Amino acid sequence: MKNKLENIREESLRAIREAADLAGLDALRVQYLGKKGSLSAVLKQLGSLSAEERPQIGQLANVIRTSIEDALKERTEALQSALMERKLQEEAVDVTIPGTPVILGARHPLQIVWDECVDIFIGMGFQVAEGPEIELSEYDFDRLNIPEGHTVREWTDTFYITADEKVHLRCQTSPVQVRVMEKQNPPIRIVSPGRVFRKDEIDATHSPMFHQMEGLVVDKGITMGDLKGTLNVMLKRLYGPGTVTRFRPHHFPFTEPSCEVDVQCFECHGEGCRVCKGEGWIEVLGAGMVHPRVLAGCGIDPEEYSGFAFGVGLERLAMRRFSISDLRLMFENDVRFLRQFS
Ligand code: DAH
Repeated sequence: MKNKLENIREESLRAIREAADLAGLDALRVQYLGKKGSLSAVLKQLGSLSAEERPQIGQLANVIRTSIEDALKERTEALQSALMERKLQEEAVDVTIPGTPVILGARHPLQIVWDECVDIFIGMGFQVAEGPEIELSEYDFDRLNIPEGHTVREWTDTFYITADEKVHLRCQTSPVQVRVMEKQNPPIRIVSPGRVFRKDEIDATHSPMFHQMEGLVVDKGITMGDLKGTLNVMLKRLYGPGTVTRFRPHHFPFTEPSCEVDVQCFECHGEGCRVCKGEGWIEVLGAGMVHPRVLAGCGIDPEEYSGFAFGVGLERLAMRRFSISDLRLMFENDVRFLRQFS
């Protein structure tokens, strides 16, 4: 019986050492230590031994059981760590491989100027208003005091949508003035940037679609001085603190008096050059004191309130700002052009 036990010891320990995987190891545990295992089979025969031999064999069986258990444990740990090692190697991530670059776009030059203009006016307490691009002639013409028969009302100038000439693509952002004034009581301080449409042939300085920013202030005691002060702030912020401006009389149906605002040419400082086409000045926007008829038409008493308004072309600002010589570049979406603004 002692020999049997020694055989079990030798055979089991070798088998455990050579076990290739955890499942095989478990099978060996059952085979040697299980209820129906070889060690149990030997122990069941203890009864047939003499009283002298019984404790010796019993003790030997226990020692062997312990050494099998130890061997199982040791081999289990070895197999587990080998498994982990292999997994780590197989699933290794090389954190030094360069990532896939994220390609960031750039703001469009027009958007840069748009944001800058809006920021300047928000800094002065203005709010941003919006109006529809498909507009009623009532708002874009009638209530802006633009009479029947005025050239902008011609089919050759305006994109009419309905044959009765009641609906068209707005040709200016000025109708937003009316939309704001009919809803809101003074004091009013808004700017409204957006798209406008005119039947112009496309060339280096014209496009049937372009952008304007409208401005409107209505309150008690607003004067031409407020207009000049506000627009000077805007133009100095856009073109630098040394910018020289000129307010030149003009005519718009919805303002009285009206003016156009020029900045002195920064190339020649008023001498006259190629940039300003010999003028010494560059026209940048239209403005004026809101016509009493326009105020009254929106339910605002012109005896009590006055206001000023202006409209500025954003493409022109952007072209001057970034020295862009052809307006078409703005709308062609050529990435070689757009990338320059990132
Ligand atoms: N709407 C005019 C245009 O498109 C620009 C303009 C001039 C707007 C004078 C105004 C203004 O608000 O007061 O040419």
